[in-house]
Amino acid sequence: MPELILDRVTKHFKHKIAVDQVSLRLEEGVYGFLGANGAGKTTLLRMICGVLKPTSGEIRCDGAEIRKLDGEYRYLLGYLPQDFGYYPDFTAKRYLEYLAACKAVPKDISREKVQEMLRLVGLESDQRAKIRTFSGGMIRRLGIAQALLNDPEILILDEPTSGLDPKERIRFRNIISALSKGRIVILSTHIVSDVEFIADKILLMKQGQILEQGSVSEVTESVNGKVWEYLAEPEEAMRLNEAFAVSNLRNDGDKVYLRLVSDSCPCHGARQVKPGLEDVYLYYFEEVSEHVENLERRAL
Ligand SMILES: Nc1ncnc2c1ncn2[C@@H]1O[C@H](COP(=O)(O)OP(=O)(O)OP(=O)(O)O)[C@@H](O)[C@H]1O
Ligand SMILES: [Mg+2]
Repeated sequence: MPELILDRVTKHFKHKIAVDQVSLRLEEGVYGFLGANGAGKTTLLRMICGVLKPTSGEIRCDGAEIRKLDGEYRYLLGYLPQDFGYYPDFTAKRYLEYLAACKAVPKDISREKVQEMLRLVGLESDQRAKIRTFSGGMIRRLGIAQALLNDPEILILDEPTSGLDPKERIRFRNIISALSKGRIVILSTHIVSDVEFIADKILLMKQGQILEQGSVSEVTESVNGKVWEYLAEPEEAMRLNEAFAVSNLRNDGDKVYLRLVSDSCPCHGARQVKPGLEDVYLYYFEEVSEHVENLERRAL
């Protein structure tokens, strides 16, 4: 199992600091980078893949700088970019066979490997269809399959669930869980539920920095005492929704149930509750993640 060390990794784009002195040690397990748009997730992942050179700092794999390892390091890597490119006129099977050849997967095992990957991501029966006929979820699954062709010890997935429906998301999570043994899996998302159940370590990223890191329970511990529940009259609920960060809101009879995040008690009668990762996201990013936006839309 390789060990990856990020040592004060920084990336500037002209005057913009996209990644700011990130230091991390990554070993076997699933690492979930959670952050809003523009937090620096893709930039950091591209540097870990070696496709982007840090402005300063170093990334080492088992003690050696990855740029010096070059091909040897790439052999360990599987990467699903955020803007994953494919050939729409290729069939899924042909596409994977083509990429297996590009990744120098030995010819005698490549055919079997492609079939194994198609089975793993549930595309076996669609392998002869052109990719242009695939749904967004099927394309993402194909992207995971291509990243796994060389049986990588370091698997990097940038927003692997974007465009997936809830059922596809669950399927994706199960695939990642099954794959995590004996690998470093790094994935980025802005959707809490993608990483809540499968990540060994959550890393909250904002403005190029890692704000918090740890297991789900360690990270949620950081907002202990700041999450509140309250059953409000509809008008009062509107006012509280304006004034506080609300992580859940739903109609409950003729009242409105609110779950909100606040350093101090938001109103008389509010009850402190145990925080979840969704509350943590709201606390650090002060914006509502996709999941909660959907909840609110349904409730109102
Ligand atoms: N090639 C580039 N040239 C200039 N600025 C860039 C470039 N790539 C990224 N940036 C800037 O760096 C910051 C971090 O971008 P990045 O794409 O890494 O964020 P992200 O967390 O992946 O966001 P998203 O969730 O939207 O994918 C942003 O402000 C972005 O505009
Ligand atoms: Mg990104």
